[in-house]
Amino acid sequence: MTVSRRDAIKLAAMGGAVAAGCGASANGLSAQAMSSETPKTADAANSLWGGRFGAGPSAIMQEINASIGVDKRLWRQDIQGSRAHVAMLAKQGIVSAEDAAAIDKGLQQIAAEYADGKLVENLALEDIHLHVETRLKEIIGPAAGRLHTARSRNDQVAVDFRLWVKAACAEADLALKGLITALLARAEEHADTIMPGFTHLQVAQPVTLGHHLMAYVEMLGRDRSRFADAMKRMDECPLGAAALAGTSFPIDRQMTAKALGFAGGPTRNSLDSVSDRDFALEYLAATHMTGLHLSRLAEEMIIWASQPFGFITLPDAWSTGSSIMPQKRNPDAAELVRAKAGQFLAAFTRLSVVMKGLPLAYSKDMQDDKVTVFAAHDDLGLCLASMMGMVQTITFNKAKMRAAANSGFSTATDLADWLVRAGGVPFREAHEITGKCVKAAEAKGTDLNGLTDAELSAIDKRITKAVRDVLSVEASVASRTSFGGTAPANVRAAITAARKAL
Ligand code: ARG
Repeated sequence: MTVSRRDAIKLAAMGGAVAAGCGASANGLSAQAMSSETPKTADAANSLWGGRFGAGPSAIMQEINASIGVDKRLWRQDIQGSRAHVAMLAKQGIVSAEDAAAIDKGLQQIAAEYADGKLVENLALEDIHLHVETRLKEIIGPAAGRLHTARSRNDQVAVDFRLWVKAACAEADLALKGLITALLARAEEHADTIMPGFTHLQVAQPVTLGHHLMAYVEMLGRDRSRFADAMKRMDECPLGAAALAGTSFPIDRQMTAKALGFAGGPTRNSLDSVSDRDFALEYLAATHMTGLHLSRLAEEMIIWASQPFGFITLPDAWSTGSSIMPQKRNPDAAELVRAKAGQFLAAFTRLSVVMKGLPLAYSKDMQDDKVTVFAAHDDLGLCLASMMGMVQTITFNKAKMRAAANSGFSTATDLADWLVRAGGVPFREAHEITGKCVKAAEAKGTDLNGLTDAELSAIDKRITKAVRDVLSVEASVASRTSFGGTAPANVRAAITAARKAL
């Protein structure tokens, strides 16, 4: 019998009930399912290693052991790896050309079936590797048994998973490019749009919206390089390490590495080959860092969309309403991106903790790697696609942004800098004088430009009416032309450079 994982808790509870002398079950489950109702014969045990066994696994053992529900996602990689393996076995004279041809044909048939959604999950067959091999035997008969020569599921899963994670890195890179492209378009549109730059979430100095968006282009560019870097390191083929020690068959690992597109050739140590999951962890680390950046952008969108800020309006397609408050428009997608960033760190932590105490070489703990990575990959895709959609369709409220940029005496630094430049005043003294101007303006209830020439020169006679040139937010951003600064001209140059790099 099979037992669903949801029922396992009841079965365990029944163990206690049975011990207390009440075997009857209200939920229709048999206490036997837990331990004694197992296939009694070697025949019923797993046909792929049944030789050594007298009985099959208990239903609960099957439930905790099987990974097919998760690792079926590796079927393409598994078949790809097997086809490369059998071609190599044939070339090396380890299996006959006829058997290899039959195996290859059978594998192609299975690929077509699985592509058609015809994978039949069977917990007794544990994982994708045994599903493919068992199906192969059904199709071509006993010759299928030659495929697993000079190979173990340990190097098989290592190569399948590496192929999958490599592809995942490439997908992440493409999605990041999509988001970067969207940011570049909006940055270009808003190279001159003025918004407040913040420190401590207090208005600091005016910046351009284009410059602000380009900050995320920088972050996401580093994320791309992290995926690329991880991909380069994982580009070595573990197939042929066999269970842990290598094999006595005259295999050609260069050939399989090449056939499977591993630029770095075969891995160099068989023990490391089957016990390394650094590649998955590096993928998760890069995912985590990307998620962290997306979360900061999401957080800004949430703040900007709030009524007191009002910097942006999210379109209907990226907002949700409230079941009770008719006026509401909530930035749920951004909030969920912010939440999922936590999941990426959790995924990295989860797999790190699985791996940290494992002795060499393979342990079954490692089977839990895939559920973690697959979930992170799916969430990353959702986050990147959502952020791209929001970036493309947000409406920026330029008037609100400019007004906010003009608040909080945001051009005070410009006044101090002007005193240094025009009056030869040491910066510290200029800072002090400007502080007095801010105080006077605050008392008068105006911004710095609202002080009269007389009021300004009364504070320090070196302040002349020429200072007006630097007190506007437009003048402020235009003056920030130092490399990496916020001036519109700089933003345009940065966009051109980023487009070239893309
Ligand atoms: N399903 C297993 C995994 O994902 C495959 C490797 C099994 N190896 C073994 N020795 N039981 O890790």
